[in-house]
Amino acid sequence: MLKKIIITLLAVVVLGAAWFVINFTVLLPRDIPVPEITLPTAPEEIERGRYLATHVAVCMDCHSRRNWDYFAGPIIPGTLGKGGEVFDRSTGLPGVLTSKNITPYNLGDWSDGELFRAITGGLQKDGDALFPLMPYDAYRTMDERDVLAIMAYLRTIAPIENDVGDHELDFPLSLIVNSIPLEAELSAVNRDDPLEYGEYLSTLSGCTWCHTPINATQQLIPEQSLAGGHDFFMGGFVVRSANISPDPETGIGNWSEEQFIARFREYQGQAGRSIPLGEEGYNSLMPWTMYADMTDADLGAIYTFLMQSEPRSNKVTIYE
Ligand code: HEC
Ligand code: HEC
Repeated sequence: MLKKIIITLLAVVVLGAAWFVINFTVLLPRDIPVPEITLPTAPEEIERGRYLATHVAVCMDCHSRRNWDYFAGPIIPGTLGKGGEVFDRSTGLPGVLTSKNITPYNLGDWSDGELFRAITGGLQKDGDALFPLMPYDAYRTMDERDVLAIMAYLRTIAPIENDVGDHELDFPLSLIVNSIPLEAELSAVNRDDPLEYGEYLSTLSGCTWCHTPINATQQLIPEQSLAGGHDFFMGGFVVRSANISPDPETGIGNWSEEQFIARFREYQGQAGRSIPLGEEGYNSLMPWTMYADMTDADLGAIYTFLMQSEPRSNKVTIYE
């Protein structure tokens, strides 16, 4: 009897393991079709793409080299889009990821459909899954015009020769990553509604992600949305995102819209890109120098959204 139970249990374990491996390696990632795409050619659309990629969605934040000797790691001139920023185990990641080269040097032989699928769906050209540090889950519901504008802009930047290797992920994440890519479900956002547009921008530019704490499986905790306290490991210290909910005591509830916008303008221009590190070498992962050139209207929309979100009482110690 006991022997029978043990054999049955073993069979269940073996079958379970086989299912796991087959599911995550053969069935996944899902096969997302490569769509037919026509990119805009109007200069205003390409300019909007540049603006979004550089100052809002900050693709260029992760996909260029950064000078971490200065506060908030400004982009090193001449590295735009070449990739090569490394995110490794010292930042708490279960593996090593390197941001890819998104200049035409790498993307030149990708079809527009393949590029669209990578940005909004999370598949590489060959159909392998990208790790969601590349925030494709946030881009999945982007406004269609915005994705196309960003793509049209990327096609115009200078090619920079730089070969970037593939990610190395620890088991079981190396298999689980295959379950994350999903087909895009684009939206059409109303840019004239500051609340709707502000929520959209807050997701697109990563404010919501960085300013919401995560649980053990790296999922945002909705009950603490915008309450801050999301930990980031930066070479020897932890920097924690601030509470940007409208709680007057522990959040930004007492800030006026002008104060909010002025906080971003501190990092504008050459002066904003030359701010020395804080005491003990404290730095911030927030790409302030890039958001610094967001328009008043866009920062204002984000402010409107933040102020109408749920106030969360949560006192955050930024550095530890
Ligand atoms: C938080 C950092 C981050 C941001 C922001 C980001 N990316 Fe990425 N991106 C990455 C990383 C890291 C990879 C590589 C992931 C991997 O190897 O699994 C990547 C991969 C890619 C790839 C795949 C290239 C290839 O050769 O496989 C494309 C295309 C891309 N990103 C475009 C964009 C665009 C466009 C934006 C802005 C809308 C953007 N990324 C924003 C970090 C980022
Ligand atoms: C990569 C993560 C990251 C992203 C993306 C990010 N932040 Fe932050 N933010 C931080 C961290 C960490 C801090 C604390 C250190 C500092 O002040 O830079 C911070 C600080 C702030 C502060 C300062 C609060 C104070 O009391 O001075 C504000 C305001 C803010 N963020 C708003 C935003 C908004 C709005 C966005 C989106 C446009 C955003 N953040 C995107 C990580 C991030």
